[in-house]
Amino acid sequence: MTIDAAPKPATRASSLPAQPRAFSGIQPSGVTHLGNDLGAIRNYVALQNRGAAEGFETIYCIVDYHALTSVHDPDRLRRQTLEMAASLIALGLDPDKCMLFVQSHRPEVTELCWLLNTVTPVGWLQRTPTYKEKRQTQPEDVNHGLLTYPVLQAADIVIYKASLVPIGKDQAPHLELSREIVRAFNARYGETFPEPHAVYTEAPVVLGTDGVRKMSKSVGNTIDILAEPDVIRKQIMSMVTDTQRILRSDPGRPEVCNVCQMHRHFGDDYEEIWDGERTARTGCVDTKKLLAQRIIDHYAPAREAYRELIADPVRLHRILDEGAERIRPIAEATMAEVRERMGLR
Ligand code: TYM
Repeated sequence: MTIDAAPKPATRASSLPAQPRAFSGIQPSGVTHLGNDLGAIRNYVALQNRGAAEGFETIYCIVDYHALTSVHDPDRLRRQTLEMAASLIALGLDPDKCMLFVQSHRPEVTELCWLLNTVTPVGWLQRTPTYKEKRQTQPEDVNHGLLTYPVLQAADIVIYKASLVPIGKDQAPHLELSREIVRAFNARYGETFPEPHAVYTEAPVVLGTDGVRKMSKSVGNTIDILAEPDVIRKQIMSMVTDTQRILRSDPGRPEVCNVCQMHRHFGDDYEEIWDGERTARTGCVDTKKLLAQRIIDHYAPAREAYRELIADPVRLHRILDEGAERIRPIAEATMAEVRERMGLR
């Protein structure tokens, strides 16, 4: 686990929490892929366990308000929200150790988003890489939510005064913007929010099966870790490896082969596997088959847990409702303070 800069301890005069607090959000995108797990969810779980041992809070949120910038089918949104809750719990989030909730169940965050909008120059938002990307990928639907998306993300984090934010590298520009917004707010209204810091895993950028772009559902290059083994096998067998290795007898270059890179995270013998590739002792197909089997085996318990959880929506709703209730006091306290500071009460 790498924290990009150590958070500053709270000064006595400020209203910052004495303990660090961790927060992260994830879209209800319908599939939990390897990029989500290696890049972020592993750290959600690690921080949750550290928080439970060291006495700090960890808060995880399924960001359905954010999803509305691209998903416009209510039934799909509801279904995918529950699927994401089941996935996160199956992958190790424990509602007794962390607080897991759905963003829209604590609607105070939309009020805070509006308030933060008033300290955020439009130029910062127009320069955000994801906004520019969405303008290209959904040109028929460049809604205002896409522009203000990072402000809502900042509100998510700061309403809980979180200073540790486990994310993948693709979220770094958003987090940087959150920090700018915090500085702008604190400069205008006094020290209110801590600056959030990214927490990265050993795999902050996971490439997709094409070996070129970040693994992402919207690109369609995912490895769906909780899917049936046959689906996973097919996805992994379709992976692009070292494009210069044409013949089975050609030596491979593990440092540029995405399959070899993924072996780093599934077993401690990756150097041996890399050696087999370099010497052409093994071919790409062998290395892919081995990776597929390891990923299938690694996620077998989570796959089983997911099946049980998704079959019990009443239990999932209860967990999510309880999560939203447990964080209510933190959200309400921050909002009371912010309204006071801004002259609204
Ligand atoms: P989202 O739903 O796209 O992704 C969830 C988490 O998974 C990480 N991730 C990856 N990491 C490495 N390699 C990949 N290929 C990969 N794909 C996804 C993401 O970096 C992320 O950590 N805007 C956010 C959700 C959000 C949020 C927040 C995050 C809303 N509010 C507040 C942190 C704090 C998003 O769309 O993540």
